[in-house]
Amino acid sequence: MADGLLLLIFLLVSFSFVAGVTSRNITIENKCDYSVWPGTYSTNGPSLSTTGFLLRKGEARVINVPSSWRGRFWGRSLCSTNSTGGFSCVTGDCRSGNIECSGASSTPPTTLVELSLDTFNGQDFYDVSVVDGYNLPVIIVPQHPKRGQSCISVGCVVNLNKSCPRELKVGGDQPVACMSACQAFNSSIFCCTNSTEKCQATLYSQNFKRECPLAYSYALDDQTMLFTCANSPNYVVTFCPSTIPNATK
Ligand SMILES: *[C@@H]1O[C@H](CO)[C@@H](O)[C@H](O)[C@H]1NC(C)=O
Ligand SMILES: *[C@@H]1O[C@H](CO)[C@@H](O)[C@H](O)[C@H]1NC(C)=O
Ligand SMILES: *[C@@H]1O[C@H](CO)[C@@H](O)[C@H](O)[C@H]1NC(C)=O
Ligand SMILES: *[C@@H]1O[C@H](CO)[C@@H](O)[C@H](O)[C@H]1NC(C)=O
Ligand SMILES: *[C@@H]1O[C@H](CO)[C@@H](O)[C@H](O)[C@H]1NC(C)=O
Repeated sequence: MADGLLLLIFLLVSFSFVAGVTSRNITIENKCDYSVWPGTYSTNGPSLSTTGFLLRKGEARVINVPSSWRGRFWGRSLCSTNSTGGFSCVTGDCRSGNIECSGASSTPPTTLVELSLDTFNGQDFYDVSVVDGYNLPVIIVPQHPKRGQSCISVGCVVNLNKSCPRELKVGGDQPVACMSACQAFNSSIFCCTNSTEKCQATLYSQNFKRECPLAYSYALDDQTMLFTCANSPNYVVTFCPSTIPNATK
């Protein structure tokens, strides 16, 4: 009898454990007027089923991710294959030489979407960061959060011509990306690498902050730029969104 009860408890516990292990879908869509080559990078565990692919204008692709996945997404632009078959991109390149990044991450400047699923108490943590610079406009939108939950859509959409100081522009008068001040000047004051020196927002990060108040703009930016959402939502990551949807739905 006792054995039967133990077995029942064991089965119930195993069942709830298995039931808790649900994967999620992340939809990546390209609303830019040009092709984007998204990249994925896992910071824990194995790579996703794809680590890089082509998304033409108007296309979308669903990527299934394990329930406790952590990592980031970004977009590459102006990619091409050279005469010897080597693949590279003007922005966001992961230097793998192929469309798949295969465990390599992006080269700055790149706008990053960072996601950490089921991190604490069933909460996901996510953010959009321009700490490593900015190349493409992108937002992340949690899908169908439960009523009463504040699952905020965050992202950064700026006009590089307007918001990137000349000395940080990549590509001169036709900018394709904006470096971070840390990348451009490599000094501890911008890179926040000296613990005894107060790390500062720069002209660059202030410009971005004004237009993208909910994105991380420099390394020691307000920690509230990290958002949470519970109840295992799926997410949609959109390059070149026409608008950033209102905070809560
Ligand atoms: C993910 O997408 C697949 C195929 O579109 C679907 O069968 C599955 O139910 C989805 N999973 C979740 C967690 O939404
Ligand atoms: C082609 O691209 C690859 C990968 O980026 C690079 O290693 C190689 O040197 C390039 N070849 C030529 C001929 O430019
Ligand atoms: C920035 O300015 C250049 C040159 O005037 C123009 O070609 C380009 O389309 C502009 N880019 C944006 C994002 O407005
Ligand atoms: C940045 O500066 C640090 C310390 O001054 C130096 O060790 C490092 O090599 C520099 N990095 C680059 C990319 O120049
Ligand atoms: C850190 O900043 C302090 C104060 O500005 C300065 O005295 C010190 O030399 C800096 N250390 C490094 C490693 O740059």
